[in-house]
Amino acid sequence: KGQYMYDENGRRYLDCINNVAHVGHCHPDIVKAAHEQNQLLNTNSRYLHDNLVDYAARLSKTLPEKLCIFYFLNSGSEANDLALRLARQYTNHEDVVVLDHAYHGHLTSLIDISPYKFRNLEGQKEWVHVAPIPDTYRGLYREDHEDPVTAYADEVKNIIEHAHKRGRKIAAFFVESLPSVGGQIIPPAGYFQKVAEHVHKAGGVFIADEIQVGFGRVGKHFWAFQLQGEDFIPDIVTMGKPIGNGHPLACVATTKEIAEAFTATGVEYFNTFGGNPVSCAIGLAVLDVIEKEHLQACATEVGNFLMKLLKEQQIKHPIIGDVRGCGLFIGVDLVKDQEERTPATAEAEYLITRLKENYVLLSTDGPGRNVLKFKPPMCFNMEDANFVVETIDQILTVIACFLSRYGKRTSDPIENIYLFYLSRYFISTHPVLSKSQGS
Ligand SMILES: Cc1ncc(COP(=O)(O)O)c(C=O)c1O
Repeated sequence: KGQYMYDENGRRYLDCINNVAHVGHCHPDIVKAAHEQNQLLNTNSRYLHDNLVDYAARLSKTLPEKLCIFYFLNSGSEANDLALRLARQYTNHEDVVVLDHAYHGHLTSLIDISPYKFRNLEGQKEWVHVAPIPDTYRGLYREDHEDPVTAYADEVKNIIEHAHKRGRKIAAFFVESLPSVGGQIIPPAGYFQKVAEHVHKAGGVFIADEIQVGFGRVGKHFWAFQLQGEDFIPDIVTMGKPIGNGHPLACVATTKEIAEAFTATGVEYFNTFGGNPVSCAIGLAVLDVIEKEHLQACATEVGNFLMKLLKEQQIKHPIIGDVRGCGLFIGVDLVKDQEERTPATAEAEYLITRLKENYVLLSTDGPGRNVLKFKPPMCFNMEDANFVVETIDQILTVIACFLSRYGKRTSDPIENIYLFYLSRYFISTHPVLSKSQGS
């Protein structure tokens, strides 16, 4: 219920990571909307139904005017695959530029554009080009660089020029508006505009993947790409996860020109389940709840409060290298040392394991699996923020206390395992800390 999950014994867990249960687990309005439409009619999208048109009209109100054509699908992967087809059809080009460590879905076409996956498989296809992630904390150009926006955008420009020299042509720049798997990164404002300029010049289109970060999560805007500034509009936007609050629903929004090029092939778009009356009733109910419960404003208010608490912890615990975020999309970068910013992978793993024992669900992301990622249901409140940060504080205090008594921080994985088990022993024998241990 809401931001909580319950196990088989009725114990309550605070869910800090489930951006799919966007307006809260088992929200009664969503359950009701699905049930009522199910009782009335559900069928495939060969049959026209008002829900589909009403839903497209409602979604269009959240987007810039030029993004006025909507395709409905069943998963984020399907949406991204269609976005790729649209881009290729419109541009007549094949190649795609993606950010390092990105993930865009599980279909063959998307594994190919997901460095997070293909680096562990057969590798990079010749039509895929990987640009550095615009991370100003541990990336190529950091907060001390005089113009990281231009520097990171120029990397994309260079990649395009290099591709052109090899006779390749760019169909799209494919990017998450806030790279999540990449480590909860907030690209500096203005970066998308500059990249879009280079990509458009090369005849390509800009695709913003909002599958994790859309629907008001960032608080001050409904879409995360809007953080870049009012002058930025992507050519294609893909939506998934939160759109249906757990129901399989996804969407691609694009311009008339791109849609017309797609239609011109004569190969019609058909998707049996995409945009069925029940899915659209749920989509509409999600938008209603976001409005009715002022969840965007909550994301700003609670997100700012959570950031403040986490920044206070940063002063107290040197293991916290960076706290970044917007609304209820926050990353806490754990480091072994403040200078080198070496990812504190084992410590992060240990922390989330101990959090789970204390009934808090949190997880890690980023290439070093050292970034704590917060993306809770949007009904997450101040009390929840206090609870999770207090629990993190207790566990980080144990880690610091343990390391100063028994060990040094190490990059040796075996030694880390040893430290992990030794620390568990330390906690279980500690008079106060052992009491707060869940099981
Ligand atoms: C950024 C991003 N894009 C696309 C997808 C794929 O969505 P789905 O799992 O619904 O197919 C995911 C899933 O994790 C994602 O995180």
